[in-house]
Amino acid sequence: MTSSPPAWLADAVLYQIYPQSFADSDGDGIGDFAGIEQKLDHLAWLGITTIWINPCFTSPFHDAGYDVADFLTVAPRYGTNGDLAALVDSAGRRGIRVLLDLVAGHTSDQHPWFTASAGDPGDHRYIWAPEDLRPPGYQPSPGSRPGWYRPNFFPSQPALNFGYARADPGEPWRLPVDAEGPRANRQALRDIMDHWLALGLAGFRVDMAASLVKDDPGHVETAKLWTELRGWLDGAHPQAVLLSEWGDPGTAVPAGFHGDFFLQFGGDDDGLPLRSLWNNDAGTVSEEWAPARPYFDAEGAGTPQTFLTAWRAATDTIGDAGFAVLPSSNHDFSRLACGPRTAEQLPAAFVFQLTWPTLPAIHYGDEIGMRYLPGLPDHEGSVLGPRYNRAGSRTPMQWDSSTNAGFSTGPADRLYLPLDPDPDRPTVAAQRADETSLIHLVRRLIALRKATPELGASAGVKVLCAGYPLVYVRGSRYVVVVNPGRTPATATLPAEVRCSALEASGVTITDSGDIGAAGFGYGVFEVE
Ligand code: NOJ
Repeated sequence: MTSSPPAWLADAVLYQIYPQSFADSDGDGIGDFAGIEQKLDHLAWLGITTIWINPCFTSPFHDAGYDVADFLTVAPRYGTNGDLAALVDSAGRRGIRVLLDLVAGHTSDQHPWFTASAGDPGDHRYIWAPEDLRPPGYQPSPGSRPGWYRPNFFPSQPALNFGYARADPGEPWRLPVDAEGPRANRQALRDIMDHWLALGLAGFRVDMAASLVKDDPGHVETAKLWTELRGWLDGAHPQAVLLSEWGDPGTAVPAGFHGDFFLQFGGDDDGLPLRSLWNNDAGTVSEEWAPARPYFDAEGAGTPQTFLTAWRAATDTIGDAGFAVLPSSNHDFSRLACGPRTAEQLPAAFVFQLTWPTLPAIHYGDEIGMRYLPGLPDHEGSVLGPRYNRAGSRTPMQWDSSTNAGFSTGPADRLYLPLDPDPDRPTVAAQRADETSLIHLVRRLIALRKATPELGASAGVKVLCAGYPLVYVRGSRYVVVVNPGRTPATATLPAEVRCSALEASGVTITDSGDIGAAGFGYGVFEVE
């Protein structure tokens, strides 16, 4: 049984920063650490407690930095290791923790471990098949070593060898998890974590955490590996956390993670719980992930039940050992504002995210309703298929109405990705000046969540109505109502209670418990 997560995690409000797209301090068109540092006061104003920065390490950037060539040195385009340390210090002074991205399952094909391995038939840090046998998907050795290597994602991302859960006579190169190469890779994960945690980092989001041990039915050996690392972390860095990209909190937390994201993939239903909530088919889903109509759908054609059932099952399994994390979106799938979803639909989604007993993770820009931009050209591996373009969720942050929306002083054609060309694109400055804006609502909801433990990740929830509207009670005396549809909806509380609104728009509750919810209405109420 794993230990409890550090207490700070229960109150975390996570914010994902795609470093190349957040704030560019030196005018080269790409965001950097100094740019992030300049925005920390803003993030503190918003109420963010923890930022997660996507991979910012030395890389040839064939997968936007998820192809790491040196785990211990940051990419010059973001600054220096010293700049990152300064950012972590500044953030800490504002009560904000910083998580990095640990790309555990693979490296870049430019990493010295790989170039050495491609020249040395005795090296087993990667998975090599002999020359006379090419298994599907394996790539040709780029070095003097004959044979083929196994990639983990793109061909330029060779899988680190953490061993196989079982042998196969047809694949005699399979090594057990405790062979020398796999053990060296386990140790390397500790070394990487040690290095960054010593700098004051608060932990890691772990990329493709389920991918480590190959041919591992039920992820049994992968779970043992993470449990072992968690045991080490508990002793060496007890305040540090690991949040996994697994997509199956009920499996990942018992495996040793402090939290795991609901994602567009993963788990028994291959990501359906999140996709059924608010991911739209706007260009960041592959064919097999084509979503059901999400619950946050103006036509009211979805149901919250798929998510609620999966969340309940995960939570019952996890208990107090950790958390499920609910992202507004991320750099791999559609933003909340995508496809047919309009700005008026976003507040109810944030009310749900920020009052549900999961850890909220806001993808930069979602808090102002930045739109997913379809049809952008492939950049640094953003396009994964004809219907799967991740670039639209990675465009530059829209700060204000100045040049390049305040993201960069560089020329527009040098920006990391194009800006939303809409003249009415939302910006932080315009929304901060307007108390009725989405960002002010998000800020008030975060403040309310922090001030009210019964609205947080650890308190109980009872769902009273799982349709349009969705009605639930948090703790002993908070009632939340959201109606993601455009059609007005009604429900009734089981008892007559007097409720006062803490945050509401278009939702009323009478003293006899009748709930009226306007289209796209929401409300957080306290029972008097
Ligand atoms: C998941 C990351 O989120 C994604 O952006 C990346 O391309 C793959 N893992 C490979 O590292």
